[in-house]
Amino acid sequence: MYTRRTFLTSTAVAAATTIIAGCGRTSDESAVTASTPSATPESSGVGKRRVGRSDISISPLVLGGNVFGWTADRDRSFEILDRFVDAGFETIDTADVYSSWAPGNRGGESETIIGEWMRSRGNRDRIIVITKVGGEMDGHKGLSAANIQRAAEASLKRLQTDYIDIYFSHFPDPETPHEETLAAYQKLIEAGKVRIIGASNFSADQLRQALDASAANKLPRYEILQPRYNLYDRSDFEGPLKDIALSEELGVITYSSLASGFLTGKYRSEADLGQSPRGGGVKRYLNERGMRILDALDEVARRHNAEPADVALAWVIRSEGVTAPIASATSVEQLDTLVRAPTLAAALTKEDMDLLNQAGAAS
Ligand SMILES: NC(=O)c1ccc[n+]([C@@H]2O[C@H](COP(=O)([O-])OP(=O)(O)OC[C@H]3O[C@@H](n4cnc5c(N)ncnc54)[C@H](OP(=O)(O)O)[C@@H]3O)[C@@H](O)[C@H]2O)c1
Repeated sequence: MYTRRTFLTSTAVAAATTIIAGCGRTSDESAVTASTPSATPESSGVGKRRVGRSDISISPLVLGGNVFGWTADRDRSFEILDRFVDAGFETIDTADVYSSWAPGNRGGESETIIGEWMRSRGNRDRIIVITKVGGEMDGHKGLSAANIQRAAEASLKRLQTDYIDIYFSHFPDPETPHEETLAAYQKLIEAGKVRIIGASNFSADQLRQALDASAANKLPRYEILQPRYNLYDRSDFEGPLKDIALSEELGVITYSSLASGFLTGKYRSEADLGQSPRGGGVKRYLNERGMRILDALDEVARRHNAEPADVALAWVIRSEGVTAPIASATSVEQLDTLVRAPTLAAALTKEDMDLLNQAGAAS
């Protein structure tokens, strides 16, 4: 059961920490020194950020867990997780259904690996664990009270913990009234099994209705969103959803922040798609706009002696309203690039941001 604990973090990221209220609004002193003249403290990347109005703060990079048990086996996953925390980060995103799509899997593999890793490292109190409910597992799905109760217990067991830091509704469930879902979360929060809740893949209308239901019934509110957002895929977040996030001071962690690997620059033609089992999902980015974005990433990477992947994540970190990008890696070498993104974000100039924004604008 969760009782208020001290969350310790290590090394570089924590050293830079001044807690940043809301989303993407910062007051980080180390970032001021690290930044170039046109990178303001309000938009820097380094330092922890408070999640919505909650008492949870996270570093501006979250590790994606959908590769665990899929494109990263247990040993590889442990290496990646070790490297991530050694670099000073603490927040891991998973879901009950990860990674059910891999041949031979049934779901729960990612949570199981993370649970075994936390147990073997004895570090549960230093990790922020994010998981989700609502996708189809064992023939159940959705956000009914009964399913949330059942799924939460199963996730806790696989994660080998007695509390989840951030519990997400994975997808909206039009069949279940928000009041029922939120009351189920309230029970979990009161029992110390969940700290705060979030909403993923919700439209602005669905989010507005849920927030109104929370306020009208004195139920917990969604404190954080998880939309898809990256330099290429901008419309799921920018617009009405972002407006609500800003006005309600919600946290926002973005998924597919690397467009499934496209924004690393390793796919430039159809011949490159065979590099990963994910190649098929990248095909839709191989067009004129996609190439324009890669050109801009290459140019900004050249200016900063960086890689397109960390530039792509730095752009998300600097984007208004975003608390942190989520990104996954299938090797420690990949991760070593990604963890440089928060520092790079503090160094991006206005000219860099303009170039990236123009390349990413819808044509
Ligand atoms: N809420 C939701 O509905 C939802 C949906 C999707 C994802 N998510 C979350 O978001 C996380 C990340 O999203 P995503 O799965 O779409 O992936 P992503 O972060 O956009 O792309 C990550 C992939 O890019 C490749 N990559 C990463 N760093 C690289 C580097 N330095 N050089 C070359 N390749 C590199 C790796 O795949 P390869 O090595 O295989 O190429 C890696 O798995 C997931 O793990 C999950 O936690 C949430």
